Formats: sequence, C-alpha cells, structure tokens
Amino acid sequence: MADVAAPDHRPQLRPPQGRLFFGGDYNPEQWDPAVWREDVRLMQEAGVTIVSLGIFSWGLIETSEGVYDWEWLDEVVGLLHEAGIAIDLATPTAAPPSWLLTAHPEILVLDPEHHSQRPGGRLGWCPSSPVFREYAMRITAAVSERYANHPAVVMWHVSNELGGGNARCYCDVSAVRFREWLTERYGTLDVLNSAWGTGFWGHRFGSFEEVFPPRCPRDVAIPGLFLDYERFSSDELLAHYLAEKAVIRRSSDAPVTTNFMVGLGPHVVDYAAWSAHVDVVANDHYTLVRDPQRAQELAFAGDRMRGLTRDREPWLLMEHSTGAPSWQERNRAKDPGEILRNSLAHVARGSDGAMFFQWRASTAGTEQFHSAMLPHAGTDTRVWREIVELGQSLTSIAEVGGSSVAPAQVALLVDDESGWALEQGLKPHRALRYGFEPRRWHQLFWERQILVDVLPADADLAGYDLIVVPTLYVTDEARAARIAAAAEAGATVLVTYLSGIVDATSRVLAGGYPGAFRDLLGVRTEEFRPLQREEIVHLSDGSEVAEWSEDTVLGDAEVVLGYADGPGAGRPAVTRRRAGDGHAWYVSARLAQESASSIVDTLVDELQLRREIVAPAGVEAVRRRTGDASVLFLLNHTSEDVDVEATGRELITARDLTGTLRLPAGGWAVVREVARP
Ligand code: GLA
Repeated sequence: MADVAAPDHRPQLRPPQGRLFFGGDYNPEQWDPAVWREDVRLMQEAGVTIVSLGIFSWGLIETSEGVYDWEWLDEVVGLLHEAGIAIDLATPTAAPPSWLLTAHPEILVLDPEHHSQRPGGRLGWCPSSPVFREYAMRITAAVSERYANHPAVVMWHVSNELGGGNARCYCDVSAVRFREWLTERYGTLDVLNSAWGTGFWGHRFGSFEEVFPPRCPRDVAIPGLFLDYERFSSDELLAHYLAEKAVIRRSSDAPVTTNFMVGLGPHVVDYAAWSAHVDVVANDHYTLVRDPQRAQELAFAGDRMRGLTRDREPWLLMEHSTGAPSWQERNRAKDPGEILRNSLAHVARGSDGAMFFQWRASTAGTEQFHSAMLPHAGTDTRVWREIVELGQSLTSIAEVGGSSVAPAQVALLVDDESGWALEQGLKPHRALRYGFEPRRWHQLFWERQILVDVLPADADLAGYDLIVVPTLYVTDEARAARIAAAAEAGATVLVTYLSGIVDATSRVLAGGYPGAFRDLLGVRTEEFRPLQREEIVHLSDGSEVAEWSEDTVLGDAEVVLGYADGPGAGRPAVTRRRAGDGHAWYVSARLAQESASSIVDTLVDELQLRREIVAPAGVEAVRRRTGDASVLFLLNHTSEDVDVEATGRELITARDLTGTLRLPAGGWAVVREVARP
C-alpha cells in the first residue's frame, strides 16, 4: 500500500559504448592502495566495464559522526575513471558503522521475542526507525552530493538487498508505524475488525492501540493481520528506498536502482510493487546446491525479472557467483564452463550484462571464502581464465545490448502475497510450498524451448495465448475479473488448485472453491481432500496424484481427466470450459509430472505455441530482437552433445553457420540469424 505513484519518467542505463555491463561488487576498502592499481589493471585485462562501489563502506567514509574521510574513495573513483570503468555507486546504508550502532542501539531490528542482534552483521536496522532514517539520509546526501557530477558515476545502487537482514521488525516504533499504516488502509476500526474477521476467538480490537505486530507464533496469527504485516514491512523498506532515492535526485539525474533477490519466491518484499520505483530492474541470483534443476530455476528467475520491467525492456544481473558462495551448507564450485553458460542464460532472458559478487576474493571478514572474479589463487586459475573469456564473449555479443527478448505467447502469474498467505498459519496441507506449481509449469515450457513471461498477478495480460495461474491463493474481484476478461478475449487460462481461495484480507471466498474463479472455470469444489503421506490416487489417464486432491463438482465445464479411484472416484480432476473466445482449464490435483506434461503438449498443439528450436529438454533457446535481426542464444545444460538448427553468424567464435550446429555437452552459442524465423 505504499501509495507512492510510480514515476512516469525513468532515466535509462545505456550499455557502455559497444559493450555490455560486465563487472562486480568492488570493495577496495578491504585492500591497501597498491592493490587498487593492480585491481584496475586486471579489470582492464578482463574487459570489466562497470563496478558497484562503496556498498559496505559507511564506517570508512563517515569515520565518526559527521567526520568524513573521502580521500580513499576519491582516489578509487579517479583510478576507475582513468581506466574507463563505469561506476554504479552505492549509498552505504546496508552496513551501519559501529559508532552509530553503539550510540543508537534502538535502531536495531527486534525479533518477535524482542531480542536484537548485536552488530557484526549488516542490514540490522529497523526500516521504521526515524533515528536510523536521519543518519541514513545524511550519508546518502553526503555521498550523492560529492559524486553526482562525476562522469564515471552512471548509476546509483541504493543500499544492498533491502530486507536481506531486516525484512521484519517487531519493535515498538514499528508497532506505532503499523497502526498508522492500518489507519491509512482501513480508515476506521470497524472496517479493520470486519476485514480481519476479529469475531473469531473474540479478537475484536477496541482501539488501534490494541493492535500489535504479529509477535505470537506464525501459526496462530490472525491471517489478515499477518498478511498486512508482511505488506507493511515491504512498504516500510520501500519507503526507505524511496527516501534515499529522493535525496539522490536532489543532486543527480542518473538512474537509481537497488538489487532485488528474485528466485522462486515468496520473497521478503513484494517486488511487483517495488519494480515501478527502480530505474533499472536489477537482480542478485545464486543457484542452490540442493536444487537439482538449477539451470531451469535460473531461467525462471530471469523470466521473472523480465516480467518486472515495464515493457519487457532489459534488466541487469547485478550479482551472481563465479563459483561457490559461502552461505550454503556445502558450497558448490561451478563446473568448467558454467560461469559462461549461466551468465549467457541471464543475458538471453534480457539482462544487459553479467555482474558478480565480487571482484577480488576477500581474505578477511565474514565472506572470506566466497568465490570472486579474482580468486585467492590469483590469475593462474580456471576461474580467472573463464572471467577473461566471459569478458571477451560479452564484447562479441554486445549488439544485443538494449534489445528486448522476443515476445512470449505464454504468461505465468506469480504473487508474493499469495506465497506469504499460503505459507502462514493453519492450512489444509501445511507442507505445500507456494513455489512448487509456478516452477513446475515453467519447467514444462522451459524443457520445450517455449518462452514464458513470469508476470506479477496484476500485470497487463493482453496478447498472451496462454495464461498459467498456479496457486494464486490471494485473488480479489478485480484480479479475477482481469484474468476472466483475458479468457473472454480469446486466451486460454489454466488455473491450478489453491488459486482464488481468499480475498485481499485473507478471508475465504465462500460458496465453493476456487471462489474467485468458480464461474470462469465452471466447477465448484465442495471440499479439499489433501492426501496423506504415501497416499496415492489415480486419474483416468493412469497417472498418480499425491499430496493434493479435491472433491469437485462439474458445472458447465467438461472433464479432461477424472479421479479413477479413491474417495473421489468418478469426480473431475482436470476440466476445461469454453469462456467467450477462449478457454479456462482447472487442475484440481497436484498432478504427476507426466500428466502435467501431456496437458502442456495439448496446449502447445492447440495454441500453436512457438518452440524457439526443437531440441531435447535441457537445451535452452531464447531469442533477443535487435533492430531487424534476431539473436538466438543456445545453451546446452545437458551432458550430451546435441545437433540443433541454426543459420547465421555465431558471434562468439565468429563463424558462419548454415543449417546445423553441434552444441557440445555444457556448451553454448549465440547466433545472429540471417532471417527472422
Ligand atoms: C548477496 C549480497 C552480497 C554477498 C553475496 C554473497 O547477494 O548482496 O553482498 O553477501 O550475497 O553470495
């Protein structure tokens, strides 16, 4: 509800002359000046075009309250500028200095038990703290005024991963702000009581002062209150970002951004609401060891980033890693070639470059074992050679800079609020995770080389042939109407179970599930029937269903698949209904992959969904459109060599291709096509 209007004008970040963005976080404050010179020389050797500077340097710039040491930063800015390296200059508010934490411990985040963590980490500040805000604005003003007119500074990097260490604060100041936020949202106490259904357990509030942040266990929190606290917390962090941005704007017109942490979600803040306020949508992306489908998850994140831009324009990969991070249990080094393949996968999906955390591996400090562009072992290493190769490769494909990814026919809707609400509190099946269905449907298209725009749930849906609506748990009337209108206008809409269950206040939409989509789908679920551990039921195609089923009654839809056995035998499991000029499918069960896969095959045929190329699953193909050409990115994530159709100029190896290209296991190619397919 941060009812701050999105700005109409957004300054663009233009790729540096003939290059893409390539570089990373640069933390020179960890090194002595002799190293800076070597850094800059090696950056030039690698072809670095931009660095994010100063992210954690507050304590080294403002050495004690009001006392500034600019000398070192001036020198580093000067060195980078002389070397032709652009700067994405950070406001250093992610890591408050020790003197500030000592003087004002009240700025620290309090957990629900009202414990605070003493300094040592970062982002430990409460976003509602007026004391922190004042200090943060002062350092933001000092940094931005000093460097606003410096020609090397091309972008502002506000703080770092806001919400990463301070997503929720439960202190008394936050409680006061929350009440103000509620007053603004609901107006009166009666409206609030009614929205949250406080008749239950006699929770009725007699005054706003009786309302507290949900410090009780998550399970027993009032669902509406819990969801509003998530929204409020996201809004408070956004307000902090906007306050810093406003200070920067007083002295600079350069684009302002902050780095998101977009993965499968739900995220710590509502990026759909935030994205309108960043001039460049930027992401930090790290693959997870425990994820067996890392390449597909990376594609999902890339498609989601593109969906957060206003018109599917380029975004920026602000951070990823050259190898093992250090925050997982067993940190995985990347396989040979993986740095390039993953970087190109982000660029294929719309990033105008590839940046890393961080430039030089730290020898001290919390992240001393995190990989970097320049490893501890130095330049005689595979990682360094791959970094140099990546720099050259990005230069070879620089013509894609500023271009859009070819339009997608498929949209898939995601919603952090739905994730928050679904994963909180007492539920029919508490082991279900929000991210499962969005990802599995995305994967089925990814395996077929079909592009999907992963969109915020309230995005414009015009022009899509297929709209996938997986577990869109929170759905108000307007949202449901927009999705229904897209079907009426000719799109096919596929809705899964646990969509349209509650309204924006987390109140169940009664009358049969899925309340918000019942009419569109032509079905009515009388009762959820979560499956018990090891319990399996079968569908009419012989496939197995585990985890989730429903007792659904057919309205004016037709049955695609029914339950073949179990208590719901004979009932519909997957249905489809003609809706205006389009169709609406309902998937009431957690389908086995083969069953979902065959539904996708049907949709691909019926809707003639375009495969970028025809290749085995695990071979990724995405096109970016540059002027009148198209550039085809081919990435082989499998362990087999594959032959793919490609005609045109392979830009990285500067070869002409006429028909077939052998793509080695783990290999890649970027082809400027002669004729648009
Ligand atoms: C995040 C942060 C970085 C660093 C990396 C480590 O993305 O922004 O400062 O901590 O994680 O992976």
